[in-house]
Amino acid sequence: MSNVRPLIAGNWKMNGLAGSLDEARLLAKTLDAAPVAARVGLAAPATLIARMAEALNGSTVMIGGQDCHPKASGAFTGDVSAEMLRDAGAAFVILGHSERRAGYGESDALVAAKTEAALRAGLEPVICVGETLEQRQAGEALEIVTAQVRGSLPQSLSGKAFAVAYEPVWAIGTGLTPSIPEIEVVHAAVRAALTDILGDSGAKAPILYGGSVKPDNARDILATPEVNGALVGGASLKADDFLPIVRAAG
Ligand code: PGA
Repeated sequence: MSNVRPLIAGNWKMNGLAGSLDEARLLAKTLDAAPVAARVGLAAPATLIARMAEALNGSTVMIGGQDCHPKASGAFTGDVSAEMLRDAGAAFVILGHSERRAGYGESDALVAAKTEAALRAGLEPVICVGETLEQRQAGEALEIVTAQVRGSLPQSLSGKAFAVAYEPVWAIGTGLTPSIPEIEVVHAAVRAALTDILGDSGAKAPILYGGSVKPDNARDILATPEVNGALVGGASLKADDFLPIVRAAG
């Protein structure tokens, strides 16, 4: 880990009903009693954001959304804007997750537009990039990931708080992870691209690793150069799984 303050963000995806707020409360209570070095956030389903904000009121745990529409309001049935997330109590938003890129055909340009929307609403964007298994096997991982970074991050991020999450698509929800040297190589390439396009802001932004981060591999992953945190799916749903990952960040 470098001198970039780590960020450990949980991504609940389409999981969680009212009862799940107990896990968020337990997480916040434990962390407020024994503070950690990392910033910690939970990206909740849209239906839980306002209730989670109420439940975690006064806690250091940030609440986030998992996607937003590029526009602030209008005739977009079923969508949620960055302004609405902010209004409900979110501080950050995950954008360009591979489940959105693959399932909804989200392009780099759309992710960039959503990133602009997040900044407009005062949310910290966490922009996801990552190669598929076919792309990795074809030796294209670095090319794909750096092209996604260049295409998905608008110049307006300069001077703003944001994070990038490197999430190999084949590692998400599978229990598979790249080797530590493989993670290191991609993170170094993401850092170089970020610094090239955004200068000092790009040099300072946290680069998270995501994809099957668990309590038993978090320490090694988080100790890798240019890994400044983690984006955690399955293991963020239970406080008992998420807390050791948060603590592994120092
Ligand atoms: P996972 O998900 O930790 O369950 O692999 C990570 C993510 O999709 O952000």
